[in-house]
Amino acid sequence: MTTTEQPVTISGSSSKFSEKELQQKAKDHLWMHFARQSVMEDGAGVPIIVKGEGHHIWDSTGKKYFDGLSGLFVVNAGHGRRRLAEVAARQAEELAFFPIWSYAHPNAIELADRLASYAPGDLNRVFFSTGGGEAVETAFKLAKYYWKLQGRPTKHKVISRAVAYHGTSQGALAITGIPAMKEMFEPVTPGGFRVPNTNYYRAGEMGFNGTEEEFGLWAANRIAEMIEFEGPETVAAIFLEPVQNSGGCFPPPPGYFKRVREICDQYDVLLVADEVITGFGRIGNWFASTTYGFQPDMITCAKGMTSGYSPIGATIVSDRIYEPFKHGTTSFYHGYTFGGHPVSSAVALANLDIFEEEKLNENVRTNSPIFRATLEKLKDLPIVGDVRGDGYFFGIELVKDKATKETFNDDESERLLRGFLSKALFDAGLYCRADDRGDPVVQLAPPLTIGPAEFDEIEGILRGVLSEAWTRL
Ligand SMILES: Cc1ncc(COP(=O)(O)O)c(C=O)c1O
Repeated sequence: MTTTEQPVTISGSSSKFSEKELQQKAKDHLWMHFARQSVMEDGAGVPIIVKGEGHHIWDSTGKKYFDGLSGLFVVNAGHGRRRLAEVAARQAEELAFFPIWSYAHPNAIELADRLASYAPGDLNRVFFSTGGGEAVETAFKLAKYYWKLQGRPTKHKVISRAVAYHGTSQGALAITGIPAMKEMFEPVTPGGFRVPNTNYYRAGEMGFNGTEEEFGLWAANRIAEMIEFEGPETVAAIFLEPVQNSGGCFPPPPGYFKRVREICDQYDVLLVADEVITGFGRIGNWFASTTYGFQPDMITCAKGMTSGYSPIGATIVSDRIYEPFKHGTTSFYHGYTFGGHPVSSAVALANLDIFEEEKLNENVRTNSPIFRATLEKLKDLPIVGDVRGDGYFFGIELVKDKATKETFNDDESERLLRGFLSKALFDAGLYCRADDRGDPVVQLAPPLTIGPAEFDEIEGILRGVLSEAWTRL
C-alpha cells in the first residue's frame, strides 16, 4: 500500500503508521490466529498492542491494561526488560544465525547445559525447536523412533487427556484432545487416544464420586485401561501437562503422577510432561514435574524460557532415550532451521539469570497461596462455580447454577464469553482469557513478578465484570 497521508504515529510505538492506517492494513492483510476474521470485517477492528512494561501493556489508543495472561503464558519475567533487548542486539551483531545441524554455537551449548541442570533426574539431553508445538512433535517422533530402535516397532500410539491442547501441527494435533480443533483437518496423524483429565469439579459427570485422592487414582487408572484396550505393544508414550491448561487449570490430584509413573513403567510407555506452560516458574519451580515430584522421560517446553523476548522451544530427554543415539551411524533425522537460534538462546540464558537474581520461582511459591485465597473471594458471586489452579496459574469456572454446577448452553456461552466477557474484561483494563474449549472459564497467568497488591487489583476488576455478566444472563 502507498499513502500520501502524513501519519499521526502512535505514542509508545515505533510504527510509522497511524492507528487508522494499521487497522486498515490489518483488515486488508493480517490473518489472526485462532480468531474470527469477521471482527475486522465488521468494523470493530482488532486491539493493537504497542508497548509493554512490567505487568502492563498499552494499546494503540494509549490505554493501559493489566497483562493477566503474560501475553500467552509467555512473558514470565514481565515486559520491557532492556537487558534482554540488549543481549539480543549484541548476539545478532556477533553471530545472528547459525544452524545446529551438525554444528553448534556457544549459546545453544550453554543453554542445553543449563536446562539439563534444571530438569529433574537424568533428563540431560536437549533437542531445540522454535516453539512448543514443535517440541511436542519432536517428542512424538522421538518416542516412535526410540521404540523402533529397541526392536519394538509396533509401539507407536500416543495417549493424552480429554480437552488438552498440545499444539497444531498434524502430529501435535493428534495428541490435542479438543475435537472442535481437529475435525476440519481430519484425518490427522493416526494413533492418538484420549483418557479423562483431572477435572475434579466435574468428576461426578465422569462417573466418579469420592475424595480427590481417590479421583486421582481413578483418573490415572484410566490410562492403564486405555493401554490394555489398545495393547501395550502398540503404545509408545503418554503426553500430560502437569497442570492441564485447556478446560481451565486442572492440577493433578495427590498421588496422580505417582500412579501414572507406575503405569508407564509397568507397560513400557514413555511419560512426556508437556511443560510448555508450566515450565519456567509458572508453578513455582523450573519445571512443575519437580513441584509434583515425578520423573518424566521427556519434558517439552518453550514460552517462558525467554519470557517471549525471542522464540525458542526444547524437548529435554532422559539418558535412557538418548542412549541409542550415542553410538555408530544412528541419527535423529529431524530438526528446524531456527531451532536453538543464537539470539533466542542468548536471550533465554539472560532471562534465566533474571529468574535467579530476582528469585521469581520463590516469589511464586511464597505468593501462590495468597493469589488463590484472593481469587477464592470471588466464590461469593453466583456465577463463580470453581476456582482452581496452582502457582501463578488459575482458572475460574463460570456456571449458571452453583448448586447443580449447570453450565451454559452454546448460545449462552456465545453471548456470555464472546459477546460480553472477553471485551468487558479488556475494557475494564484486564487482559486475560475467557475460554470455552471445555466449560467456560476465565484464565489467569500473570507475570511472575507481581504480588498481593496486584492480586487484589485483578480480583477487583473480575468482581465488577463478573457481577455484571450475571445480570446479563
Ligand atoms: C501445553 C502446550 N503444548 C503445546 C503448545 C503449543 O505451543 P506453540 O504455540 O508454541 O507451538 C501449547 C501452546 O499454548 C501448550 O499450551
